Amino acid sequence: MLVTIDQLLSADELARARSLLQQSQWVSGQVSAGVQAAEVKNNQQLPEQAQHLPTLRQLVLDALNRSPLFFAAALPLKILPPFFNRYTGDTNHYGFHTDNAMRRVPDMSGSYVRSDISATLFLSDPQDYDGGVLTINDTFGTHGIKLQAGSLVVYPSSSIHAVTPVTRGERVCCFMFLQSMVRDPGQRRLLYDMDMALLKLRSELGETEPVVQLTGTYHNLLRRWAES
Ligand code: NI
Repeated sequence: MLVTIDQLLSADELARARSLLQQSQWVSGQVSAGVQAAEVKNNQQLPEQAQHLPTLRQLVLDALNRSPLFFAAALPLKILPPFFNRYTGDTNHYGFHTDNAMRRVPDMSGSYVRSDISATLFLSDPQDYDGGVLTINDTFGTHGIKLQAGSLVVYPSSSIHAVTPVTRGERVCCFMFLQSMVRDPGQRRLLYDMDMALLKLRSELGETEPVVQLTGTYHNLLRRWAES
């Protein structure tokens, strides 16, 4: 299931993120790739020791935390600190790959996050670069995604995906991996569809008895399937 969330960042947050990124130094994206992904990864990334990385990460996490649509689509349990990458010049693409299932948290804890869901937050205006399309293969075919700056796409980490070469300008994005309370993508999809339908029913009908009953069913399914 692919879900896009328009304008996750406010205009102010987007401007602030861009300003911090402009003051930052980039390194090769190889630093965070697994063995298989490293062979096809050719981009740049903000290193862990980058001065503004903690501020940038907090800015993105705050935006995620206030989005009910993100919560409904991802049912997030643990979010790995977001990363930032850039595609430009000779470092301009990321071939087809799958994301590592288990990712170590970049602190001293030695703990892991299981990546159920990947997300990309676009930070460059689409008219400012050519190419750089996030291409995702799922059971319903191939999807090409290039969103407005400040918008987010959420997709299963189990998918095979790529970023096509950037042939003009630069594409800066934030990307992240998260563990969902609901591990199974099919169960997540059912819950998301039900949640969205309930939102509509509630706005059209109010809290009628069947709406309350169905809301109870949603929560009982979540109770059955969620881990915490
Ligand atoms: Ni990936």
